[in-house]
Amino acid sequence: MTGAISGASEVAGAATGTGTGTGTGPGPGPGPGPGPGPDVSPPALPPDRNARIYVAGHRGMVGSAIVRRLRALGYAHLVTAPRAELDLTDQAAVRAFFAAQPIDAVVLAAAKVGGIHANHTYPADFIADNLAIQCNVIQAAHAAGVQRLLFLGSSCIYPRLASQPMREDALLTGPLEPTNEPYAVAKIAGIKLCESHNRQHGRDYRSVMPTNLYGPGDNFHPDNRHVIPALLRRFHEAARAGAAEVRVWGSGRPMREFLHVDDMAAASVHVLELPTDVYRAHTQPMLSHVNVGTGVDCSIRELAETIARVTGFSGRLVWNTTQPDGAPRKLLDVSRLAALGWRATTPLERGLDQTYRWFLQHEAALRA
Ligand SMILES: NC(=O)c1ccc[n+]([C@@H]2O[C@H](COP(=O)([O-])OP(=O)(O)OC[C@H]3O[C@@H](n4cnc5c(N)ncnc54)[C@H](OP(=O)(O)O)[C@@H]3O)[C@@H](O)[C@H]2O)c1
Repeated sequence: MTGAISGASEVAGAATGTGTGTGTGPGPGPGPGPGPGPDVSPPALPPDRNARIYVAGHRGMVGSAIVRRLRALGYAHLVTAPRAELDLTDQAAVRAFFAAQPIDAVVLAAAKVGGIHANHTYPADFIADNLAIQCNVIQAAHAAGVQRLLFLGSSCIYPRLASQPMREDALLTGPLEPTNEPYAVAKIAGIKLCESHNRQHGRDYRSVMPTNLYGPGDNFHPDNRHVIPALLRRFHEAARAGAAEVRVWGSGRPMREFLHVDDMAAASVHVLELPTDVYRAHTQPMLSHVNVGTGVDCSIRELAETIARVTGFSGRLVWNTTQPDGAPRKLLDVSRLAALGWRATTPLERGLDQTYRWFLQHEAALRA
């Protein structure tokens, strides 16, 4: 038995089965397929609260928010496995994990994620790890007869010069942003793998493409270049030191969109729970992904001023205009998601305030 299997656990409720069933043949078409394991209860699909949902990446910022959301809604059979016990780049371990217990639906929130610096330094890791994680989880889910799956991508899949706001059909219409192209190519492959299972096997594998996310669980490491945690930390330290000014990269003019991770989790579960016919009616077999954002952007200057208020920094903001600004605007068109019945609800300042409070509570551990 691998560590992966013995490490599997249900987040809520009794421990899940830990058997070592071996029936992993490709179950064609919809339906439970040859899922092995000791529990033979029929599959339940969300919104059925009895659904056994495997959340991959449950310790990450998004995965942990999705677990909180599912729990709050009353899902009692969440399956998780920490990376130390299930390395999702290990194909055999992932197959064995799915074979060992009944799983009705999957949320794939595990990925190798990083900022510009990490993407630039480790491009081979970003494309290889993400392709492996996606391929292993999606193929093993299909082989185990899992009918519904939600794949998490990213808005970086869109061409660098996509017209704004970016609609789902901008996908594959032009060159990608070079700094994270390998990562974006992997994410596009994930969408296409899901669509291909739907077309070939009648599966119901869905994809959501979030905009920039922030919130509890974010990466506040000083090397991280995600703008919100970086600025929250910088303004916090400046306020604490009584600094007279904070220098901020660029002109402050670029417009960006930010979504609170709890909104992202709510949107993800909303899409996961949609009836199959509704999802299909609002998507196309080869254009199946759904943008997730607020549909509203703000300038980096407004963002920095809001963060200064939230952290209590009362000094000056100095804009370092010798540094490049990047794209003038990046905003998702969220009309497909709105037509599916979901809209973001967390105002930016409230979300930033809540995130800052989380940072203060965890600062000592984050520093360690
Ligand atoms: N954060 C954003 O602004 C943003 C924006 C758009 C899209 N997204 C998408 O949202 C998803 C989740 O992102 P996130 O921000 O939550 O990232 P995160 O905080 O880094 O979480 C990623 C999770 O994946 C797990 N993981 C990575 N490699 C693994 C492996 N080989 N085996 C097992 N587990 C592995 C990590 O495990 P450990 O806990 O052990 O590290 C972690 O739990 C990603 O698909 C990302 O592309 C995020």
